[in-house]
Amino acid sequence: MEKFKVGIIGIGFVGVAHIEALRRLGNVEVVAICGRHHIKDKANQLYVEHHYTDYKEMITEEKLDFVHICTPNNTHFEMAKYALENDINVVLEKPMTMTADEAQILTDLANKKRLVNVINFQNRLYPTSIQMKHLINQGQIGDIISIHGHYLQDWLLYDTDYSWRLNKKESGNTRAVADLGTHWMDLVEYLTNLKITEVFAEFKTHYKKRKKPMGPTESFSINKPNHYEEMNIDTEDVAMIFFRFSNHSIGNLTISQMAAGNKNNLEVNILGSKSSIHWSLQDLENIKIGHRDSPNQTIAKDYLLTPQAKNMIDYPAGHMEGYPDSIKQVFKEVYQNHDSISSYYATFEDGLRQMILCEKIFESANKHQWVKI
Ligand SMILES: NC(=O)c1ccc[n+]([C@@H]2O[C@H](COP(=O)([O-])OP(=O)(O)OC[C@H]3O[C@@H](n4cnc5c(N)ncnc54)[C@H](O)[C@@H]3O)[C@@H](O)[C@H]2O)c1
Repeated sequence: MEKFKVGIIGIGFVGVAHIEALRRLGNVEVVAICGRHHIKDKANQLYVEHHYTDYKEMITEEKLDFVHICTPNNTHFEMAKYALENDINVVLEKPMTMTADEAQILTDLANKKRLVNVINFQNRLYPTSIQMKHLINQGQIGDIISIHGHYLQDWLLYDTDYSWRLNKKESGNTRAVADLGTHWMDLVEYLTNLKITEVFAEFKTHYKKRKKPMGPTESFSINKPNHYEEMNIDTEDVAMIFFRFSNHSIGNLTISQMAAGNKNNLEVNILGSKSSIHWSLQDLENIKIGHRDSPNQTIAKDYLLTPQAKNMIDYPAGHMEGYPDSIKQVFKEVYQNHDSISSYYATFEDGLRQMILCEKIFESANKHQWVKI
């Protein structure tokens, strides 16, 4: 049986989720981690044998098959490029890079070297997502007329809430769009096989200044620091975007990191000429199908019929599979099903696509006009 040696760079919120998910597979060993702060303590807590503060040293010292990059956005490009140049397969967190140009360089390099390249858009890998894709492909909702939804969180509601995401130099020109919008747009294009062809965006930055804690913090941390310094904010808390799609359908998306009461609320509505689909992360084991002339349906995880969707179910209905499970399913596809003809995970091509959309949305918000993709 093929076994893989993996190193993880960035042991914050999502880096730990990667380690947990990889350990559930059985054919992957996390041999080393790399981080800037308290890395020895983290290695002890996580029972990882080797630890580094310099990712290049980790890549040189360990004979890795894959590296997972789970650091702030501004580091993705140089780390992924270095790994690819050293012939190591890469699993990269979203958003892929800071710019579309960087994403294009990485995509070309990975393809040229024929290395496995993955972007962690895990919402594609819920069993219900696979089933929705199937229903749409089979024409069961008819022609798509419109698509709308939201992605709402509240963890940046107060001006004392801090993350590196608030710093444009670490996060990129867009914040809420790159962080949350890319998940939604990737999912919608993936489910429908449609392309967004034009965008019109409006941004709002509620706090022009926020309070930055002195000393290191990690995303979604509930520990509140005692000392702050003031920082200017020049990225959006809220974005509203209109879309035109390749089949002439239209859509819209509301994104906010300041939506009180919404912890991780992604919702998609796909409205067709025969019926409609409603799906949300709040109720991710059920697909709601709306009909005009017959009772509406709820398709639960258990009754999903396609073998591909069943493949993503490891626990029966009533035994909730959520966020950590979707990341495990991405890694199962990468490490165990990589020879199958149709893999469901997102690649660098898909990451590049989202970087292009982020740039066009940013341009639209600045120019206050529709921008073609
Ligand atoms: N797919 C998802 O659902 C999901 C969820 C959260 C975050 N993310 C993405 O994952 C990435 C990390 O986000 P996070 O929320 O885990 O952030 P985080 O702040 O919790 O963790 C980032 C970690 O990277 C480390 N780090 C920073 N620079 C480094 C460097 N040069 N070398 C080594 N380590 C370094 C930090 O010390 C920190 O431990 C981002 O790109 C984010 O968009 C994706």
